[in-house]
Amino acid sequence: MFAKKDILDIGSLDPAEISMILDTAEGMKEINERPVKKVPTLRGKTIVLFFQEPSTRTKLSFDTAAKRLSADSLSISQSTSSIVKGETLIDTAKNLEAMKPDVIVLRHPSSGAPHLIAKHVKASVINAGDGIHAHPSQALLDMMSVREKKGKIKGLKISIIGDISHSRVARSDITGFSKMGAKVRICAPQTMIPMGIEKLGCTIAPTMEACIEDADVVMMLRIQKERQGNILFPTEREYATLFGLNTHRLKLAKKDVLVMHPGPMNRGVEIASDVADSEYSIILEQVTNGVALRMALFYLLAGGNRHADAD
Ligand code: CP
Repeated sequence: MFAKKDILDIGSLDPAEISMILDTAEGMKEINERPVKKVPTLRGKTIVLFFQEPSTRTKLSFDTAAKRLSADSLSISQSTSSIVKGETLIDTAKNLEAMKPDVIVLRHPSSGAPHLIAKHVKASVINAGDGIHAHPSQALLDMMSVREKKGKIKGLKISIIGDISHSRVARSDITGFSKMGAKVRICAPQTMIPMGIEKLGCTIAPTMEACIEDADVVMMLRIQKERQGNILFPTEREYATLFGLNTHRLKLAKKDVLVMHPGPMNRGVEIASDVADSEYSIILEQVTNGVALRMALFYLLAGGNRHADAD
């Protein structure tokens, strides 16, 4: 039994719960390969997707996941909700709750917003990314993708490079991979490394080369200009020279290295196009796994009985 009501961050999941989610997601993958990609598992369940920030991958994969399990998914956004008329987040959540949804998926620019609404609603809440704090479903699909390719997570050397300061993906991935026994190294310009980040379970490499050396996985992160108050590096060209992943640098990693990126990518800045499209890249497989992973979250939270109901 999966005992959690909400998925708010990776820190509140223990390794057994993470493994249960990844195992369930692996089982869901087969549904996505069928000619008719739909099972009746969550028929009659209602899922609200409330995205107050732009999204391509996360929103569409949650929506696809709901539909593949036959749940009814409904979407609202910041600009089309009554938040623009002054309604508070808690009042909005209470009004959504009054319509009896089973799960609310929230993306919000403020760290902690999903935790806040989870206290006010009976529905399960899934954090689809809150400010710079957490993006648990992304970290779970990243762990699923690595485990699928390498057969394990424990003992792997995972290098995460880029705008760590403003990245909720970095925080969730560092926490998740280190919980599952990986050795996580990070690298970024000094201005993009938050104080105390090592407490999440990583070490800071002095150079990009030191970070990549002998890595099993190299995960690149976008510079989150939308969250940076001040310019934290001189130019994109200098950033690409010092912290961009190119084929030359990738040679320092293990021969069977996996290149990952949560997307959206800025080609030519944090990652060269030929690396993003190379045989080492599993960037689009991450997106494929994102659907199965989110199906697993809905299944575990909304209490569907996949084996009894599946066609
Ligand atoms: N990885 C991710 O969160 O992408 P989107 O912003 O497109 O959802």
